[in-house]
Amino acid sequence: MLPADGNPATLPALPPLTGLRRDFIWGVSTSSFQIEGATRKDGRGPSVWDTRGQQGLIANRDTGDVACDHYHRYKEDVALMQRLGIQAYRFSVAWPRVLPQGRGTPNEPGLAFYDRLIDALLAAGIEPWLCLYHWDMPQAIDDLGGWTARDSVAWFADYAALVAGRYGDRVKRFATFNEPSIFTLFGFGFGGGQDAVAADRMHRAIHHVNLAHGTAVDALRARVPASSIGCVHNFQPCRPSTPADTPAAALSDAYWNRAYPDPQSRGFYPPLLREKIEPHMQPGDMARIVRPLDWFGLNHYGPTYFKADPNSRFGFDFGAAPADMGQTPIGWTMDPQAFHETLLTVDRDYGLPIYVTENGMGEKEQLDANGAVIDNKRIAFLRAYIAAMNDAASAGADVRGYFVWSLLDNFEWEAGYSVRFGLTYVDYPTQRRIPKTSFHWYADLIKTARQQ
Ligand code: FCB
Repeated sequence: MLPADGNPATLPALPPLTGLRRDFIWGVSTSSFQIEGATRKDGRGPSVWDTRGQQGLIANRDTGDVACDHYHRYKEDVALMQRLGIQAYRFSVAWPRVLPQGRGTPNEPGLAFYDRLIDALLAAGIEPWLCLYHWDMPQAIDDLGGWTARDSVAWFADYAALVAGRYGDRVKRFATFNEPSIFTLFGFGFGGGQDAVAADRMHRAIHHVNLAHGTAVDALRARVPASSIGCVHNFQPCRPSTPADTPAAALSDAYWNRAYPDPQSRGFYPPLLREKIEPHMQPGDMARIVRPLDWFGLNHYGPTYFKADPNSRFGFDFGAAPADMGQTPIGWTMDPQAFHETLLTVDRDYGLPIYVTENGMGEKEQLDANGAVIDNKRIAFLRAYIAAMNDAASAGADVRGYFVWSLLDNFEWEAGYSVRFGLTYVDYPTQRRIPKTSFHWYADLIKTARQQ
């Protein structure tokens, strides 16, 4: 018999953890727009994702207006984190909450929200990991051209300075961007038809985001000397659907995996992209991008398959995965061995300590008749991926932490609330939080790991 919150008497066996460091950090990740709600509260300005919601572009015409109501329920959510036993919590600040116009006068009530959150985390013994940008760009900045405007670099650096000045007495871990390759590729029409103007705008945006990253690193470091700074990348093997698609897979790898970490850590753009990006560069730019970093944030879900498509915007499109490739319930690839491979690749190519800042599994779940969510598939996914990480660490990858995506079911971008990634089920009509079985399994894993 299961208790109402799905905590079974016995949980599936934990993976081996013998390859991991003694000071390994266990955590969970979320992002501002996906959980906060309160989008019109206390002077917050609109973001591009509010606009998308209003335009009806999200599944089921969902919006982020309420989301998980974390803005009001952050204390309850920190209590959940405490029950999990995590050491670190990665969240993002909503740029339009602290600077409603993206620049200019800061919004004191918005700033005060993150004071409350950070203080609650520290009181609970959980280290705050603050990400500056998880896709919710202020609409006012987008109206001025967003990342295609070179001025966006200075606006972002000013925002970084504001955040560092306000929270730097309590926050030491900062990420500049979450998955820059994903928001640029998809923001400029990946999968769409040929459009040379849109493609060119994306190449310009890639360069400006890299410049914004480097400039923000300096702004953070100047105000918080003891800070530990990274950038969070979505990195996975980009594989060809058929042997003929091998060049397309190489091109997709350049855009998807390399366009940001290569300039940021090695000082060059991938050779396949140079001709496209160099026209947007000015003398001295690369030196502003390549700043010393403390760690590499790795978001990983599964390998991606590509095919050549000369009619698509960037020359490639998603292709079919092999018939025997594992799949999650929402059709994402599932291949722990690819995670192992990625950890070794990132370790070899960038030489930075790696924190897995996102990994997890999506499903379309409902409460069962007992009011519980027994998510054994998620447990099997996490178990296999954590075991693969342990093996990669044994094989020499310098991996130092792991954050599950996500603490809570939340607003999953275009899919709205139809897809759930949480360790905790959110009953949206009542906002009740119901820990799934995986919540208890992960708590058990952390407890065991920390006793080793
Ligand atoms: C990542 C995003 C995160 C979430 C997960 C499922 O690409 O960074 O916000 O949507 O996917």
